[in-house]
Amino acid sequence: MTKIEACLFDLDGVIVDTAKYHYLAWRRLANELGFDFTQEHNESLKGVSRMESLKILLQVGGLTVDETSKIEMAERKNNWYCEYISKMTPDEILPGAKEFLEELRHKGIKIALGSASKNAMTILNNVNLVNHFDAIIDGTKTSNAKPNPEVFLLGAKELNVLPSECVVFEDARSGIEAATNAGMYSVGIGDPLVLNKANIVVSSLKEMTLEKLNY
Ligand code: BG6
Ligand code: MG
Repeated sequence: MTKIEACLFDLDGVIVDTAKYHYLAWRRLANELGFDFTQEHNESLKGVSRMESLKILLQVGGLTVDETSKIEMAERKNNWYCEYISKMTPDEILPGAKEFLEELRHKGIKIALGSASKNAMTILNNVNLVNHFDAIIDGTKTSNAKPNPEVFLLGAKELNVLPSECVVFEDARSGIEAATNAGMYSVGIGDPLVLNKANIVVSSLKEMTLEKLNY
């Protein structure tokens, strides 16, 4: 790729280990509604907005509900999720994430958050990482869920860089697709079978170095 000017990071499952809390809260909702919700079902919720996630979950359970019930269910899930994240500490930053952010800052590479979550600021505050980002794009600033590229294009715009100069770090299939749709290079964090559309895949940010991007 051309010279890297910026790195854009997904939050849940890349910087912090919140993917497990989303799963726990969605599973709890599914169980209350009378059906099971497996880790495999959960893969398709990763990276996707709250209401879109609920839609997929209801499809898994074969349920059709009205708009008012949907809003109530999404709220019920979010209340449990907020309870989990309210207790988060910097210990829950994923291995290598903070160190990699610091290496990028040191090398003069710009950094943005590109998350679908409306809870991103709460999480970044709880783990003390707000100041590690030059721009924060979250679910309060976007209207189109990944794989739509909106979140990453807004990030590039706020950092004043071209999409072709950006690298995206993502743990979700939908997020890798969003990066590709934005015209950005993508690094998958996690399982290479799930993230087979990424340009490269590493198991965690601990394995990540600028050399791996040929920088
Ligand atoms: C993404 C998560 O980062 O944020 C999804 O991967 C989640 O699982 C989405 O649904 C929206 O999050 P929130 O916190 O606004 O419900
Ligand atoms: Mg994620």
